[in-house]
Amino acid sequence: MINTKNFLASALLLGVTLLIVGCERPPIVSQQTGFRGTGMVEMDSELAKVKLVNANALPEASPKADPNGPTAGSLYKNVQVLGNQSVGEFTRTMVAMTQWVSPKEGCNFCHKAGEDFAADTQYTKVVARKMLSMTGKINADWGTHVGNTGVTCYTCHRGNNIPTEVWYSAADPGTVKGFTGWNYGQNTPVSANGYSSLPLDSLSSYLSNDGQVRIQGDHALPTLPKGPSGTGASIASTEWNYSLMMHMSNSLGVNCTFCHNSRAFSNWNESTPQRATAWHGLRMVRDINNGYMTPLESVFPDYRKGAAMGDVAKVGCSTCHQGASKPMLGASMLADYPELKKIDPTAAALTASAANPIVAALNVLGKIFFASGKADIDAAGNDAIKSAAKALAANNAAKLDISGFADSNGNQDQNAELAKKRAFAVRDALKAAGVAEDRINLKKPEFLVGAATVESRRVDLVGIGL
Ligand code: HEC
Ligand code: HEC
Ligand code: HEC
Ligand code: HEC
Repeated sequence: MINTKNFLASALLLGVTLLIVGCERPPIVSQQTGFRGTGMVEMDSELAKVKLVNANALPEASPKADPNGPTAGSLYKNVQVLGNQSVGEFTRTMVAMTQWVSPKEGCNFCHKAGEDFAADTQYTKVVARKMLSMTGKINADWGTHVGNTGVTCYTCHRGNNIPTEVWYSAADPGTVKGFTGWNYGQNTPVSANGYSSLPLDSLSSYLSNDGQVRIQGDHALPTLPKGPSGTGASIASTEWNYSLMMHMSNSLGVNCTFCHNSRAFSNWNESTPQRATAWHGLRMVRDINNGYMTPLESVFPDYRKGAAMGDVAKVGCSTCHQGASKPMLGASMLADYPELKKIDPTAAALTASAANPIVAALNVLGKIFFASGKADIDAAGNDAIKSAAKALAANNAAKLDISGFADSNGNQDQNAELAKKRAFAVRDALKAAGVAEDRINLKKPEFLVGAATVESRRVDLVGIGL
């Protein structure tokens, strides 16, 4: 028989133990970083420090390669971004990428066993090439954020195929049962908003779109530019801002006062130098997501994409920082891999060729954008249609896939209808420009609704066999 008294006592003991285990183990060390009374204090514990040091241990660098001798470009058949490296440096880069991204799978993660290394048959290789130019871009053009420390694939990947800290756009949760009106994506605790009731998709607004981060008024009844919620300087905009600030603080493992003086959040003169670094960081992250991650959308297989919106996994502050105020605690792996500085960040990484089915499938001839709720083609759209018609006229075997998209405003049925109407309008315009109907294939995209931005109000023209 169960003794109720003993049972209750052990349940209580278990409860207390769980409570204590859930807390940070003392002693907690606090360090004052600003004037007294401003609350500028960073909290830390010995245990947390040890954990951070262990999590940021660097893999051993391989012996340096000879930068002289014939270049990879002169020896190999299909090198588009690493052509300037010497053959020794190129081999060291391949070995390092394997160690950083696919230590378990080896070279075969990107190259098919028994096939020519020059073939681009695996999507992972096409992605890796774009990642190489992205890494080159960060190191060459974003010194305002990454300094001379720079980044390598390891900064984000740490031995994993996909970095552990990435984010996807969240579906619009719409109206909450029992309430009228939109809930501004609130009251859905997810890691992106620090498990709070703050908006759940602030990262789409700020880290891939350039949503207005400054929300504090400096005079009565301010009319600031519209915040991501579209309502100007309002409580709603402030909540979006705080959601982003939670992401930034959590990613770096710091308090708000690491960057702000608590008596003047807005004032740059009273902020720490780290706030300026963070300002550049925000712009860098937008550049990476728009310039490199999102364009890979059609290369990634569906199982790698976000369940809600079908977007690629994107980079946030945590992707590199992973709980440290400087990734890898400030150690520069780039210094050990000088050959990574030889990547041309502007190299055309995704060029189409017949021998390259994945990239050929990516042959987006043009994008036609639309006004909100409309399916009318404007002058820029007509130009895109003319040049697509010209490309088809020059190649009799080629065909065209067209797919319509809509943004998340409106309901599901309206959006599907609007996306279809846009695709029909483009088909009709192509026919009017002389393209035979049997060369046009209307293709319903799997995910036709995107974020509430102009990029989502579009029709894609994809050339097949061009
Ligand atoms: C994470 C993906 C990835 C891994 C892992 C990888 N490679 Fe590569 N490899 C690439 C990419 C991308 C290129 C093309 C680079 C460019 O376009 O500049 C390439 C090109 C090559 C080429 C040049 C082929 C040619 O003729 O064009 C050789 C050789 C090669 N890799 C060997 C290796 C070896 C050996 C390994 C294992 C030690 C390896 N790679 C691991 C992505 C990878
Ligand atoms: C700034 C962070 C960052 C850096 C630096 C970075 N990557 Fe990535 N990488 C990502 C993210 C985020 C994804 C996930 C994209 C997705 O799944 O939609 C990814 C995905 C990949 C994939 C696809 C893996 C799969 O299983 O689908 C490969 C291959 C890859 N990266 C290679 C590299 C290589 C090689 C380098 C260095 C030259 C590198 N990456 C540098 C962020 C980064
Ligand atoms: C890593 C540095 C950093 C941390 C940590 C940080 N912020 Fe910020 N904060 C910034 C930057 C940078 C901006 C301005 C961004 C811009 O202009 O694009 C900003 C803007 C703001 C603004 C808008 C100010 C204005 O002029 O309208 C507020 C309010 C704010 N942060 C509050 C917070 C709060 C609350 C926290 C903690 C939860 C926090 N921040 C944590 C860097 C930081
Ligand atoms: C591509 C990787 C990467 C991403 C993404 C990234 N950072 Fe950084 N960040 C770095 C590196 C590398 C350093 C160290 C630079 C140095 O040593 O000078 C750094 C330094 C910083 C610092 C200065 C810390 C100090 O102690 O001086 C701040 C603040 C910061 N990052 C904020 C951010 C914020 C906020 C974001 C997101 C908007 C972000 N970072 C995204 C790589 C990254």
